Amino acid sequence: MAERLGVAILAAGQGTRMRSDTNKVLHPVCGVPMVLWPLEHARALGADPVAVVIGNDGDAVQDLVGERAVCAIQAERKGTGHALLQAAASLQGRCDVVLCLYGDMPTLRLETLQHLVSVHRELRPAITLLSVRSADSMGFGRVVRDEDGCIRAIVEEAVADAEVLSLTELNCGVYCFDAEWLWGRLTDVPVTPPKNEYYLTDMVALATADGRRVSSVTIDDVSEVIGINNRMHLAAAERVMRQRVCEHWMLEGVTLMDPATTYIDATVQIGQDTVIYPNTALEGQTVIGRNARIGPNALIRDSVVGDRGFVLASVLEEARMDEASEIGPFGHLRPKAHLGEGVHMGNFGEVKDAYLAPGTKMGHFSYVGNARVGEDVNIGAGTITCNYDGILKHTTTIGAGAFIGSGTMLVAPVRVGPGARIGAGSVVTHDVDEGALAYGVPARPRKVSSADER
Ligand code: UD1
Ligand code: CA
Repeated sequence: MAERLGVAILAAGQGTRMRSDTNKVLHPVCGVPMVLWPLEHARALGADPVAVVIGNDGDAVQDLVGERAVCAIQAERKGTGHALLQAAASLQGRCDVVLCLYGDMPTLRLETLQHLVSVHRELRPAITLLSVRSADSMGFGRVVRDEDGCIRAIVEEAVADAEVLSLTELNCGVYCFDAEWLWGRLTDVPVTPPKNEYYLTDMVALATADGRRVSSVTIDDVSEVIGINNRMHLAAAERVMRQRVCEHWMLEGVTLMDPATTYIDATVQIGQDTVIYPNTALEGQTVIGRNARIGPNALIRDSVVGDRGFVLASVLEEARMDEASEIGPFGHLRPKAHLGEGVHMGNFGEVKDAYLAPGTKMGHFSYVGNARVGEDVNIGAGTITCNYDGILKHTTTIGAGAFIGSGTMLVAPVRVGPGARIGAGSVVTHDVDEGALAYGVPARPRKVSSADER
């Protein structure tokens, strides 16, 4: 057990003020469910074991947490002290320091926690607490010190007198505990009326009574300790994290024309020298290569854009664009759309579950779904793959070098051979051979007579 760090994440609060059918700690911040932020910190700190305290309604939280931590259930919400006690079965005897975090405080920096833990390890007090200096109390408890500057108590705002209310050092609710002392004393926390809760903050007074020291780390940045209780707090946390993500990518060599209107999830990767234009959202498991140009007005979700890719005012979902391919303005790539290297897709195109091989061009107003398109195919304006017969989806195959005239309807299943040409306005209901020319409604191959070969 020596020198092991355990983490408890308190997340059983009701979250009533969110007015949501979704558990509060599952609401995402920069695309990551809130509770995963402290869990990620716990992992980065090398903590083991890690426990998440959830309420009876925490099944969805437990599913998300999965193997990352043990979930302990607080059946009745009886306060922060009682919540931490529920983690005892998972943590007691398995670590020498317990770091207590909240599931609804996602903006806390890893560096701050690393500092807190290292101060605690160095000084070995009963408690090292995180405090913040702020003129705005945010409803937080006050840290009360004696004339020597030693921490004597934490007083909740609701019960503080005028003198205590005037204190500007606030309790963030984040603590490192000497584990052995913690588990010996946590059950001695008194019950506090009127809600009959057990306040974790009362551990400070118990430490003082035991002649044990309470140390502290004080920060000045209130944006690190946004406790999310309602959607306004959620938006505030989102703003803070979004700015941090944007700053990260700018320092990594990505140009953001306007960080204020650039929305990048924490899960996204972006290559150097890429330029992101305003009003762009990059979401989920998205990867953007180097030297790409994205936006303005792009939404890219769970997609890959290769080096030198170009996405102008378009929407990509679970799609892939290889190197130097382009889309937009007003293109839509739906799941399993894959544009090969150098593919050009212009205005008002839609591609779904289809591969367009390198060099293919689809300039204007087309829909290609459930299709395989070879290299260097020209897809004329307004071409449609009629992939759905009302019951099933069917495949369209177009061979390399084919030329599809404007306004062609390809009624799937259908195959157009390599190098074939389809006349404008054709409705193609039968396969067209390699190199053939077909046209009309329904499209028929041109008969090759000796007269034609003049
Ligand atoms: C607590 C502190 C306060 C501090 C503030 C900082 C206490 C008594 N007070 O205030 O000094 O300034 O945090 O944010 O600790 N939770 C449970 N089960 C419960 C109650 C709470 O799991 O029965 C969890 C909540 O989900 C939340 C965290 O504990 O993640 C804090 O609860 P909250 O009610 O926000 O704390 P406060 O009492 O406002
Ligand atoms: Ca709170």
